[in-house]
Amino acid sequence: MAERDESENRLWATRSTALAGMTLMHAARAEGLATCPVGGFDGEALRGEFDIGDGYEPVMLVTMGHAAANARDTNTPRKFRRSVDDIVHREEFEPAEAELDDGVVAESYATQ
Ligand SMILES: Cc1cc2nc3c(=O)[nH]c(=O)nc-3n(C[C@H](O)[C@H](O)[C@H](O)COP(=O)(O)O)c2cc1C
Repeated sequence: MAERDESENRLWATRSTALAGMTLMHAARAEGLATCPVGGFDGEALRGEFDIGDGYEPVMLVTMGHAAANARDTNTPRKFRRSVDDIVHREEFEPAEAELDDGVVAESYATQ
């Protein structure tokens, strides 16, 4: 089998980790727990704090716990979300209707 280069390995690790993270979040939800994926973190600080060795690459954090009693419920309007038709393509690829520039996102937030 051909060897993959470093960037391709990272891409596959990220894909796999994202799927595992989603599975974790669904499982937690089924157990009545709330979660948030977090991608914006200081990887080096995390390494130090949890003594993570060089052979591991922190990809994503998942917060998990019991939601506060006054947490937003699932009926509350959410931030900008693409429609299913924008992200699911059947038979042929159709470019998304909304371009994700700051204007579109800002407008979407403003209407909620
Ligand atoms: C891959 C990914 C990474 C994220 N990283 C962050 C983050 O670093 N900081 C943050 O505040 N929210 C982050 N979020 C968003 C929160 O986890 C969470 O989804 C959001 O605050 C809840 O808002 P929502 O109900 O509108 O989705 C991330 C979401 C995803 C999907």
